[in-house]
Amino acid sequence: MRAAVLIEPNRPLEVLEVDLEAPDPDQVRVAVAACGVCHSDVSLVNGTFPIMGPTVPGHEAAGVVTEVGSGVTHLSVGDHVVLSPNPACGHCRSCRRGRPGACAETAALMTSTFPDGSTKLSRGGEVLYRGLGLAGWATEVVVSGNGAVAIADDVPLDVACVIGCAVQTGVGAALNTASIEPGDSVLVVGAGGIGVSIAAGAAIAGATRVIVSDPSEARREQAMQFGATDVIDPTRTDVVAEVSSLVPGGVDTAFDAVGSAALIDTCLAATCNGGETVLVGAAPMTDSVSVNPVTMMFAEKGIKGSLLGSSLAPRDIPRLVELWRAGRLPLDQMVTARLPLAEVNDAVRDAEAGKGLRTVLMMD
Ligand SMILES: NC(=O)c1ccc[n+]([C@@H]2O[C@H](COP(=O)([O-])OP(=O)(O)OC[C@H]3O[C@@H](n4cnc5c(N)ncnc54)[C@H](O)[C@@H]3O)[C@@H](O)[C@H]2O)c1
Ligand SMILES: [Zn+2]
Ligand SMILES: [Zn+2]
Repeated sequence: MRAAVLIEPNRPLEVLEVDLEAPDPDQVRVAVAACGVCHSDVSLVNGTFPIMGPTVPGHEAAGVVTEVGSGVTHLSVGDHVVLSPNPACGHCRSCRRGRPGACAETAALMTSTFPDGSTKLSRGGEVLYRGLGLAGWATEVVVSGNGAVAIADDVPLDVACVIGCAVQTGVGAALNTASIEPGDSVLVVGAGGIGVSIAAGAAIAGATRVIVSDPSEARREQAMQFGATDVIDPTRTDVVAEVSSLVPGGVDTAFDAVGSAALIDTCLAATCNGGETVLVGAAPMTDSVSVNPVTMMFAEKGIKGSLLGSSLAPRDIPRLVELWRAGRLPLDQMVTARLPLAEVNDAVRDAEAGKGLRTVLMMD
């Protein structure tokens, strides 16, 4: 099989022939049809996130099942599936208390391996690592069965793939992590694939004011297609002042969908008393935020992390497909470019430059 391998950060990826082992009993093998380019992959390529060694990025994929481990009963060869990076195990302490985003198995995201330390991937005997829990910039993947969710054959796989990360993360942050009530107001900082999905999720949750801030005019326009009611250009306007003129007292919930300490401060300042800030963007590992405990205590403000939208793939992927079908998630508009795997370096460059909204790599 072929895969795009990141040998070292800040070097062009190389599309190489690599070896993939057969699935374990609880795993499946999938022929990848399409895999999106998320900013988290860009962060691997440009060294913002560390890598363990030669790595295959890509964690937003959809494809067709080609081999089913003996213990997997919910899938058959030929099923179309959306893949979820590092799926929740369903039985650890966090999963049992309804916090799948905090599943103990997500620790494997940091090691770029399966939870048991294996990767199934190698080249000439050298281990290749699984990027952010999938290694989807490849013609084939082996994944845990609970991370492969069957979808109807009529859903285009090059659109469905964005559900795997951007949509599970963004819509899930609004529907699962946050506590948005009908009539609430929301601020979303950053309008990439993640931010526009948060905006769409907030609208689905019943928020009536969905304010989106992004320096890119094109991204602000795209946000309006995904449910934003107001947009702000942070290079021209003070975001906190603008939010408080739109919603006196501040928004109920603010989301950082960029990943920076300074923008988390903006979110905290833009929320009302009793409001909540949700951290979705992946800030550099060295960033830290300081909060004033008295302000937080007196104003009862909250701050909460959200990994992959606190999603439980078998529950959330089918409902996201249904929301797309019902016209409430314009995923077709999220995929603004399709490139062959061989052009992976152009796709990464476009994602880093914010060109389009989501570029999808096509594997055939
Ligand atoms: N929590 C999770 O599970 C999870 C999952 C996927 C991605 N992420 C992270 O979410 C973030 C967004 O990912 P993406 O793929 O949408 O990225 P993206 O690069 O497509 O979008 C980021 C957007 O932020 C905008 N931006 C930059 N500076 C800004 C500022 N000062 N104010 C407002 N907007 C600003 C950019 O113009 C761009 O439109 C990344 O940090 C990514 O690593 C987190
Ligand atoms: Zn992602
Ligand atoms: Zn778990």
